[in-house]
Amino acid sequence: MKVLVIGSGGREHALCWAISRSKKCKKLYAAPGNAGIAQVAECVDIAVMDDQAIINFCNAEKIDFVVIGPEAPLVAGLVDDLARAGIKSFGPNGVAAQIEGSKGFMKDLLGKYGIPTASYGRFDEPDAAKEYIMRLEEKVVVKADGLAAGKGVILCHNKNEAYAAIDHLMTERAFGIAGDEVLVEEFMEGEEVSFFALVDGNNSVPLASAQDHKAAFDGDTGPNTGGMGAYSPAPVIDSAMEAKIMETIINPTIKAMVEEGCPFRGVLFAGLMLTKDGPKVLEFNARFGDPECQALMVRMKSDVLEALVACADGTLDKTEFSWSDDTALTVVMATNGYPGHYENGSEIKNIEAAEKMPGVEVFHAGTKMDDGKLVGFGGRVLGITATGKSVKEAQELAYKAVDAIDWPGGFCRRDIGWRAIK
Ligand code: AMP
Ligand code: GLY
Repeated sequence: MKVLVIGSGGREHALCWAISRSKKCKKLYAAPGNAGIAQVAECVDIAVMDDQAIINFCNAEKIDFVVIGPEAPLVAGLVDDLARAGIKSFGPNGVAAQIEGSKGFMKDLLGKYGIPTASYGRFDEPDAAKEYIMRLEEKVVVKADGLAAGKGVILCHNKNEAYAAIDHLMTERAFGIAGDEVLVEEFMEGEEVSFFALVDGNNSVPLASAQDHKAAFDGDTGPNTGGMGAYSPAPVIDSAMEAKIMETIINPTIKAMVEEGCPFRGVLFAGLMLTKDGPKVLEFNARFGDPECQALMVRMKSDVLEALVACADGTLDKTEFSWSDDTALTVVMATNGYPGHYENGSEIKNIEAAEKMPGVEVFHAGTKMDDGKLVGFGGRVLGITATGKSVKEAQELAYKAVDAIDWPGGFCRRDIGWRAIK
């Protein structure tokens, strides 16, 4: 098979790394890719949102299968455009991707089918939102409806903070049109986990659990980021909890999508809160998590490409899966200043020392070759992924690899995995 992966982050490097090991993969391309992806795939300079250029490339190169990493092209309907051109791809179509692209769609779906989640109100007008807040408990969560790169969620500890959040999103339009509609939600208390399932429209297979670290600095302090590290599996998800998540959340959601006329195909990524009343949905994503995907891919022993194709073909029930029992842990190295202002172009040295360590994979999230030198090109730059018999063992090896890399222009958290180790 000739395969094209869309995207340029650590998630896409991990996908390319895993797909390149499939015996079914004859040739692998990535658009646009990065310097790390270039080690396992041929990178082509096409933007992820340029559907026509992607289709033209697929036709010219006779691509058999397209794997779409990020949410933006999924929500914009790349899968639909590819299907119209007769090209098979991995991921939900534009309507199904609304499960991530519109929090309102997602919450209404869960409400209609009785799938556990925080109670909520949905508003397109600030005064009505504030009136709703007035009637709730002190602690609430205010969210922009549209995609806001993970930043449109404001945790409010009292009502004044909640009123200010409404003004920030709806009046000051801090995230532009993403604030046309807001959700006000019950504040759920508990431990947060990610759960991934592959879905082929009707069938689903639990992939793995993971926990990520959204805050920029140690001890979960500092601003929220796309994710500074992750590990998989999450020790809080035992097999009984996995069965409960499949039975109360994943399978009912897949059925609901079928009933709504938009069957979901791809990877369903549930952000869950393990509350005292059981697991409840925080959010759904229509794609792999980043950096969670990096930890997932190094644990998967069976053929990843075969599994992704089965999602598109509706044959997941006939596909075999096998996993390593080890834990994988990813430490993200980011450019100094991230998630605020940062400068591209600082040189990264001695990455080979980390790459050579047994049990370590170095995934690139934002790198470039500049005059023969490897430089940072983006906020999150590397995902140092290590495996071990326990979270602790994987953590020790990951930081050994981090310390082998010489990059004064970057930083990382030193406590990835703390919740599981504690
Ligand atoms: P979201 O993008 O909707 O997952 O929200 C980002 C983060 O905000 C989540 O990962 C949670 O840590 C937190 N969060 C969102 N909604 C709630 C809620 N209803 N209760 C408590 N925490 C929440
Ligand atoms: N790491 C969280 C996400 O990919 O959304």
